[in-house]
Amino acid sequence: MAVNLKGRSFLTLMDFSVAEVRHLLDLSHELKAKKAKGVHGGLLKGKNIVLLFEKTSTRTRCAFEVAALDEGGHVTFLDSASSQMGKKESLEDSAKVLGRFFDGIEYRGFKQEVVEDLAKFSGVPVWNGLTDVDHPTQVLADFLTIEEHVAKPLKKVKLVFAGDIRNNMAYALMYGAAKTGMHFLGLGPRSLYPSEEILTRVREAARLTGAQIELSDDINAVQGADVIYTDVWASMGEEAQIPERVLLLTPYKVTMEMVQKTGNPDLIFLHCLPAFHDFETRLAKDMKDKGYDIREVTDEVFRSKHSVVFDQAENRMHTIKAIMVATL
Ligand code: CP
Ligand code: NVA
Repeated sequence: MAVNLKGRSFLTLMDFSVAEVRHLLDLSHELKAKKAKGVHGGLLKGKNIVLLFEKTSTRTRCAFEVAALDEGGHVTFLDSASSQMGKKESLEDSAKVLGRFFDGIEYRGFKQEVVEDLAKFSGVPVWNGLTDVDHPTQVLADFLTIEEHVAKPLKKVKLVFAGDIRNNMAYALMYGAAKTGMHFLGLGPRSLYPSEEILTRVREAARLTGAQIELSDDINAVQGADVIYTDVWASMGEEAQIPERVLLLTPYKVTMEMVQKTGNPDLIFLHCLPAFHDFETRLAKDMKDKGYDIREVTDEVFRSKHSVVFDQAENRMHTIKAIMVATL
């Protein structure tokens, strides 16, 4: 049966079937090729889109803006400082109002329940631009990048996520792996292993595709990986936990030694970005002065031939375009 996602929200990959995830990836490849030829279409002509950001963003916001404009849509940006949402107006009322004005709503913030309530009350498609527990639009871009750089179908790929395996990125990648049949290995200290509840949910979905979902605290488990992925050690809102995370996660920093341990000369390195790979950012410098090296990846790996992080960042735009085109 042909896939039809019109009117659907995109809150987590767990809501999508294997065929639907495949459809979104195929559409992303198609829209990327179309843009490369300089063709701009009207697939979102007349569509009004609102972008709600309670946390900061560079890629996600710009990806939504450029993707919508490429296809003739119009965007409005609202952050918590410049709107009434949650301060002078309940989420339910704001969602009902926004649903009257807009054809689609993007939301980035803290709680997954907020993005779910927005979908429930607005009556229009809502897209999750990151919450504390998920980042589904990022995973589509990651998988598009893997398909471009790894000469294997996704179900044959071994992806190692090294670092904070309880964060939104690790969860989102696990969900994506379960839906595509990928081998996901979460590499990090036992104290940061995901809860049994999450693992049970993921493993249940993985049964349909044959995906392997594994955890390890042993660096040698990277052997045979096609992809090493990492993310910051303290996510937005967790800054107070940096000292503790540095202690826990330094053994899992992505280094050339870890890359070599995979035994794969064609290994690719992925990172959702923003990344700490040097001391050029204010936070990395400040923490270094206090005695903490917060780099989750060395500059050597980040700038190496293995790293395709900027292709990955560009793919945010093509995949977000596909999500909007498919659901509106
Ligand atoms: N990867 C990602 O979501 O980047 P931003 O925080 O810049 O949107
Ligand atoms: N885990 C990171 C992802 C940023 C795109 C965060 O939530 O800050």
